Amino acid sequence: MALTIKRPNGTEDVIPKNIYKWHTVERAAREAASGYGFREIRIPTFENTELFQRSVGETTDVVQKEMYSVIAKETKFTLRPEGTAGTIRALMQNGLLNEAMPQKVFYILSCFRHERPQAGRLREFHQFGVEMAGSSLPSADADIISLASDIINTLGIKNTELKINSIGCPKCRAEYHKALKKYFEDKKDKLCETCQSRLEKNPMRILDCKSPVCSEIAKDAPLILDYLCDECAEHFEKLKFYLDNLDIKYTVDPKIVRGLDYYTKTVFEFVTTDIGAQGTICGGGRYDGLIEQLGGQKTPALGFAMGLERLIITMENQGISFDSDMGCNLYIAPMDDNAVPHAMKLAKSLRDEGFWVEYDVVGRGLKSQMKYSDKLGATFTMVLGDNEITSKKARLKNMKSGEEIEIALDSSFVQNFSNIAVGEMFNGVLEDI
Ligand code: HAM
Repeated sequence: MALTIKRPNGTEDVIPKNIYKWHTVERAAREAASGYGFREIRIPTFENTELFQRSVGETTDVVQKEMYSVIAKETKFTLRPEGTAGTIRALMQNGLLNEAMPQKVFYILSCFRHERPQAGRLREFHQFGVEMAGSSLPSADADIISLASDIINTLGIKNTELKINSIGCPKCRAEYHKALKKYFEDKKDKLCETCQSRLEKNPMRILDCKSPVCSEIAKDAPLILDYLCDECAEHFEKLKFYLDNLDIKYTVDPKIVRGLDYYTKTVFEFVTTDIGAQGTICGGGRYDGLIEQLGGQKTPALGFAMGLERLIITMENQGISFDSDMGCNLYIAPMDDNAVPHAMKLAKSLRDEGFWVEYDVVGRGLKSQMKYSDKLGATFTMVLGDNEITSKKARLKNMKSGEEIEIALDSSFVQNFSNIAVGEMFNGVLEDI
């Protein structure tokens, strides 16, 4: 019978043979973030819809067009379209913003946005992200950009460009909004319906509308960098100085405004040309007003998130190798039912030491057990029958070289197997070099 129910459009399965790619990226990100003092946080997959309306913003594409929301028992919930809002909510709700500042957390989570699926754009995707609360200084901006850059470099990703911009604070943005309104006013009729309504409420959102007509109209719109107040301009200059100091290359792109409403001052993106149209592998910035907006004390904050699928596709397209998965160390082949309890015990003793060991659990004959062990890619196999059990000796076969070594099935078994297996792993490494 054929499977009639398929996974929803824009979602992906990661099958076991590909999981090592995810582990490579997640491990690199976790380790780098830990070195910068970020600790992991886990938050719910869904939140009250209002959280996203008030943070991501009512006039953004994400809130207006892309959220998956349900009304359950009269409450409106939304699958998180990103990680910042929920993380900040969690920091507030758990009293972490009353503790020593800055608070620094990272997360690995799935996000949901009803976008048109294409390569690198999914409806369920995954982010690694960090958030830092409690610093208003540009050194914090440089610190998180440095972390993002370290992760990208550790993974070996090439051909990326870091683009930075400042989108100012509410003070300078008021002037900028006036200039934008003036610019768009006589072109209003040509804008898409959503942007027409944005013109009054939040004209900056027109700048990142995905409609080609709106993008064309927005091409010559005034630039926020020309409207920055002294404080924002100074913050931006200092950030550039710090990035130069760290030897992190960047370009100032005054057109980056980001698609989420909470940003203030610094915004940035790491973009690659190697994965087609959806080339932004990381996006972030400062959001000094968000915590207050959600009902907390005024607390500056900032962060970034990387799309894990996009990092993986970039690595694949650039031919970068991933950390290889651990393979099966030993396959034990019991010749008959009598040998099964012995196989079980031997397997358990090695598993306790962290080895991957398997034995037959489906009742195969010896020949097909060997075929299966081959499929598993087991480094060693060991046949277990009456002879082996009585003599307490078995033959360990190295599947690559065909070499067989006798091994005692007594209290020395685990230690002897460890020595042989570790020696073999070491051989593999030397061959790779
Ligand atoms: P964002 O730019 O919306 O920012 O998303 C961050 C990253 O998630 C993007 O650069 C991209 O790599 C990935 N991404 C976004 N949408 C999709 C999609 N539909 N399919 C696949 N990957 C996608 C945020 O979400 C902010 N919360 C980042 C942040 C954290 N800012 C401050 N702190």
